[in-house]
Amino acid sequence: MSLFRLDASIRTEGSTSRALGDIVESEWSATHPGSAITRRHIGAEPLPATAWSDAVGASMTPESERTPRQSAAVDLASMLTDELAGADALLFAVPLYNFGVSQHFKSYVDLVLTDPRMAPGAEPATAGKPAVLVTVQGGNYSAGTPKEGWDHATAWMRRILEDVWQLDLEVVTREFTLVGVNPALDQFTDVADELKKLAEDQAERHGRALALARVPRAA
Ligand SMILES: Cc1cc2nc3c(=O)[nH]c(=O)nc-3n(C[C@H](O)[C@H](O)[C@H](O)COP(=O)(O)O)c2cc1C
Repeated sequence: MSLFRLDASIRTEGSTSRALGDIVESEWSATHPGSAITRRHIGAEPLPATAWSDAVGASMTPESERTPRQSAAVDLASMLTDELAGADALLFAVPLYNFGVSQHFKSYVDLVLTDPRMAPGAEPATAGKPAVLVTVQGGNYSAGTPKEGWDHATAWMRRILEDVWQLDLEVVTREFTLVGVNPALDQFTDVADELKKLAEDQAERHGRALALARVPRAA
């Protein structure tokens, strides 16, 4: 059994999405001790910003006429897809930035979608694999809050992971991670503590389920 884990936080210290990802991972590892984990830290080690346009350019260019950059982008997309296709379970930890999806995660998804195994129209190499998305927000976007509807990341990530990549997806969410950091949010300390506990419980539960999920095998 193998796990693929992607982290998109731009922080390595104090990252709440990494902490929740660690809970999911440790639950998975408890069931599969010593099993392989492939990691990709796209927040700390971003993919080249030109890779996507180069890979798209390559798809419209005969192989013998591709530039070295186009060929490198195709190889990178293939390696990223190998990581997804080769894993039995997938874990993505992606924070909300500027009310939208992390640019690093968007670049990653765009590039993966250029690989023929993940391109629109084909059954994706990830179809049916169990996966957990951990997503965290500094603020709160629940129904009835002043910023309801301002989280433009979670719905997009669900569409990609659940519908386009056809993963069997569970989502762990923790809002109000900036409580205790931004003094203007001090009034929300109790609710933030409660949301943290709920997210940790969710991460444990979905981590256990990820470890026990049935894994589709290629025919
Ligand atoms: C540059 C930047 C932009 C952010 N934009 C938002 C935002 O639009 N909405 C929000 O709720 N939180 C925002 N945050 C807060 C992060 O979502 C929050 O700090 C989260 O915990 C970051 O993930 P991490 O703890 O794994 O590093 C932003 C943080 C940074 C650094």
